[in-house]
Amino acid sequence: MFFLYKKKYHLDKHGIVTKKSNSNIALIKYWGKHSDKIQIPLNSSISYSLDKVYTVTKLIYNIKEKCDKNISSIKVFVSGKKNYFFLQKVSEFFHRISFYCSYLRNYDFIIETYNTFPHSSGIASSASSMSALALCIMEIEKRFFTYFLKEAFLRKKASFLARLGSGSACRSIYPGLVVWGFHKSIKGSNDLYAIPYPYKIHSIFTNLMNTILVIDETPKKISSSEGHKLMNNHPYAKERFKCANRNMDSLISILKIGDIQEFGKLIEYEALSLHAMIMTSNPYFLWMKPNTLNVIHTVWEFRMQSKKNIYFTLDAGANIHLLYPIQEKNYILQWIYSDLIDYCKKVIESFCC
Ligand code: DP6
Repeated sequence: MFFLYKKKYHLDKHGIVTKKSNSNIALIKYWGKHSDKIQIPLNSSISYSLDKVYTVTKLIYNIKEKCDKNISSIKVFVSGKKNYFFLQKVSEFFHRISFYCSYLRNYDFIIETYNTFPHSSGIASSASSMSALALCIMEIEKRFFTYFLKEAFLRKKASFLARLGSGSACRSIYPGLVVWGFHKSIKGSNDLYAIPYPYKIHSIFTNLMNTILVIDETPKKISSSEGHKLMNNHPYAKERFKCANRNMDSLISILKIGDIQEFGKLIEYEALSLHAMIMTSNPYFLWMKPNTLNVIHTVWEFRMQSKKNIYFTLDAGANIHLLYPIQEKNYILQWIYSDLIDYCKKVIESFCC
């Protein structure tokens, strides 16, 4: 297997590594994964990485007195506090990746991490936290291996590992537009790790603002992982996967010619399709809040009247991402702070980086 090693490595007794990773916002959504395979998506997805919304993770490793088959001790601190929920996620992650990073079995770990945004509230915190952790692990791998590991390989394996922690995390390894999941029209796309979007991108799409309206800061009652599972017996699932793949084809030509209006229509359609799947799952549920809808209606009205290019997308939660060209930033931001501010708890200004 490509990511397994046969060559030799040395082990340090102790070390510390710190990495930062940005969150991302999907334009074409990953929703649904194979039930009989580990973290393999049922359609391809594409996202922008976001500046300002990121995780910083410090990984401390101490050699064990006696190596055994398991990773015996992991301590996790999120913003300085022990976090049982994240510990469970991290333990499962280490368990999954130890096959590909067998040197990890020699260590006990302490993980100290913080996000610049609220976790589990629809801003992809699992994406940035799992990708930051995967980057830390690849930094350790780089230190231990006695031969040179190329940057491209380190990234590829980091994305591969991050995927095993959280699907969307594999896209956070790269800046800009990133694709994960096989798509016939995208060369190099595959289900195991993400790749930077390989085709021409019109300059309007390399200069997009992303303003996040935090509508609800409380952790979600249903996690994304639970939501994905509901796609396995969903009556509309097959059509949804086909539709996502068709939308990817449309996006490729939109990105090339720079049609911002078609781009807007497509990302709003994707966002609402994702939430339609959620609302029609069995059991059904709802991530949107009244203020999510208030914002959507207000954006539509403003767009019609002002003719400004402002479009929304939603992730797995109630919060809204507003995308618009940097050239329209001043006017739109002013409007957001005057007309939308009452609907949200917080505004995070970021850039699709
Ligand atoms: C709606 O990556 O959080 O944000 O793989 O179970 O950890 P797991 O799920 P996760 O799902 C993200 C879903 C989404 C769409 C997307 O980011 O593509």
